[in-house]
Amino acid sequence: MNANYEVRGDVAVITLNNPPVNGLGFDTRKAFAAGVDRAVDDPAVRAIVITGAGKAFSGGADIREFGSPKALAEPNLLSLIKLLEDCPKPVVAALHSVCMGGGLELALGAHYRVAAPGTNIALPEVKIGLVPGAGGTQRLPRVLGVETALNMIVSGEPVKSEVLFALPGQKLLDRLIEGDLLDGAVTFAREVADRRPLPRVRDLKAAHPQGDAYFQFARNTVRAMAKHFPAPVRCVDCVEQSTKAKFDDGMVYERAAFLALMMTPECKALRHAFFGERAASKIPDVPEDTPVREIRKVAVIGAGTMGGGISMNFLNAGIPVTILETSQEALDRGVGVMRRNYEAQVKKGKLKPEQYEQRMALLSTTLAYDDIRDADLVIEAVFEDMGVKEQVFRRLDEVMKPGAILASNTSTLDLNRIASFTKRPQDVVGMHFFSPANVMKLLEVVRGDKTAKDVLATVMAIAKKIRKTAVVSGVCDGFIGNRMLEQYIRQAMFMLDEGATPAQIDKAIEAFGFAMGPFRMSDLAGNDIGWAIRKRRYVEKPEIRYSRVGDRLCEMGRFGQKTGAGWYDYQPGKRDAIPSPVVEKMIEDHRRELGIAPRAIGDEEIVQRLVFALVNEGAKILEEGIASKASDIDMVYLTGYGFPLHRGGPMCYADTFGLFNVVQAMKRFARNPHDDAGFWTPAPLLAKLVAESRTFT
Ligand code: NAI
Repeated sequence: MNANYEVRGDVAVITLNNPPVNGLGFDTRKAFAAGVDRAVDDPAVRAIVITGAGKAFSGGADIREFGSPKALAEPNLLSLIKLLEDCPKPVVAALHSVCMGGGLELALGAHYRVAAPGTNIALPEVKIGLVPGAGGTQRLPRVLGVETALNMIVSGEPVKSEVLFALPGQKLLDRLIEGDLLDGAVTFAREVADRRPLPRVRDLKAAHPQGDAYFQFARNTVRAMAKHFPAPVRCVDCVEQSTKAKFDDGMVYERAAFLALMMTPECKALRHAFFGERAASKIPDVPEDTPVREIRKVAVIGAGTMGGGISMNFLNAGIPVTILETSQEALDRGVGVMRRNYEAQVKKGKLKPEQYEQRMALLSTTLAYDDIRDADLVIEAVFEDMGVKEQVFRRLDEVMKPGAILASNTSTLDLNRIASFTKRPQDVVGMHFFSPANVMKLLEVVRGDKTAKDVLATVMAIAKKIRKTAVVSGVCDGFIGNRMLEQYIRQAMFMLDEGATPAQIDKAIEAFGFAMGPFRMSDLAGNDIGWAIRKRRYVEKPEIRYSRVGDRLCEMGRFGQKTGAGWYDYQPGKRDAIPSPVVEKMIEDHRRELGIAPRAIGDEEIVQRLVFALVNEGAKILEEGIASKASDIDMVYLTGYGFPLHRGGPMCYADTFGLFNVVQAMKRFARNPHDDAGFWTPAPLLAKLVAESRTFT
């Protein structure tokens, strides 16, 4: 295993065999090297073909080995590439399906490359904050020219083999092979078996006619596009070296850039997000081989804001949807919104007209529960009212076929209660989409006390199909995301009381990297939502302190963009947030009534109070088992709340900042007489981690 060896007449074939994508892990590298040795030693072998079994040539490094000593153990990837380059017999790499990262770098060590059409070729290292580390930046420009190579390296995006093959003057692919790839590769190998000298990519020259000007232009463009990330600019630097330095010196340069990037917080954050995404789909007590229920048909109850967006996700994935409503008007309105959404995509060229038709053809509507009884999954998205939910779930329990999954999109209600309206609580689960549901990546999967494991496994699988990042949350008020957000907003409002303005707070946290500050976000979502939650809290938990400044805003009817005024003013038809003198005066009046003398609050304090509010609540969520791992919390914030990717999510950021330092800052905030001192008591888990010098992740 790991690499297969066979001889076809006078050609040896070495096949990488490390499912799922032939990652170049230690055992695979060893077996591969042994295969090359064997082929060189065999006098009957005149040429060597290397390829990959199954679904890939090779997807690159074996991510399961990331960070372990095995990843670098000899023979490492650089040694394998050298082995091929120095091989006295011609080596032909036969590429298909996926040829990425280290896989492509390995192929560039071969003397020749042939490919099946449709092969995805890429150097995606930049996506985890790195430059390619095994010669990719030095060899790819030599075979594809500087501009094409640079675009691929800086974007990390795959390009199809036939596109690259068609480029004038390219030396990446010697032949495009229709039909059986291996047969074609072996035939090609025989054709070149006696040709000498053996061509090596390292001996080619990379050049650009406008050298310096081009690279300066590229650097400026890349810097503007990737503000927070150092890797893309370093990619440009490395490619520039391929045109200026001797090959070996370019390799040293690339290595140094790779190692330096590896240590940056941005790279750490990107790797954390990369692994966090994969880890999120694994649920500790739900084995990976849990059988899943088949989802062929979906029903959605309610054609409002959420119901329509949710339906679009399934239609986009080719899964038929029936929407059920209480009136024909509601159905027409909902379907009308979906149509307009799709039409906008067609207009922008993001969707072909025939795709639009295909998707709409999968949609049906009804007013009768009888029409949805054989759906495999039904998602309820009716009004956020327990009475209405009860009605719907009792009815679903009566009509739905046995084994159907009954999901609720509730954002605040107790899922266990919803499940109790049915005689099959094991089939009930929360699927908490975010608005706009057809766009936002995040899906919180809410696990009720009785939710069956195969229901969870099925929902996680279907989430992948509709391209969501699914994170499991236990049942609690607000689940992971909104529960943390409540603390973040509480702090934002305390800071208004103390002397900050909405614009100042938004600006500070946006400079930290958030897509949108709390006040702009609240104006977008509707300030009345938070108002309603606070009203409930004042009754449920009177001991918790809130600033009333947000209530005063709502009492003025300033609900946000939808009413043309919120924390900011808005001009009709525009979304630009304009600081509002009216709001500023309201805040000043409020402050005066509280008897607070305003003080200047620095950006650093603003950022820390907002982010550490998230961190402390996140720690509680972890401790209570609402989230099963810190990276799940980070995925929620990265994909659903605009937390800056280069910071890796709140928990990852806290680790990078140092939990000791986080707690010290919290102690400082607790001494502020206008803040809620209790707010800043470190969560027991946080205190424990500091005491034991450990981290969240
Ligand atoms: P909405 O008011 O836009 O839509 C609700 C729809 O449900 C309406 O079209 C209404 O006619 C229909 N409906 C009401 N009772 C019904 C019944 N008995 N049978 C069938 N249809 C019925 O509300 P929205 O915003 O779509 O919210 C729906 C659910 O999604 C709520 O539980 C909400 O908490 C949740 N949610 C909302 C988010 C948002 O940003 N709007 C985000 C995440 C979850």
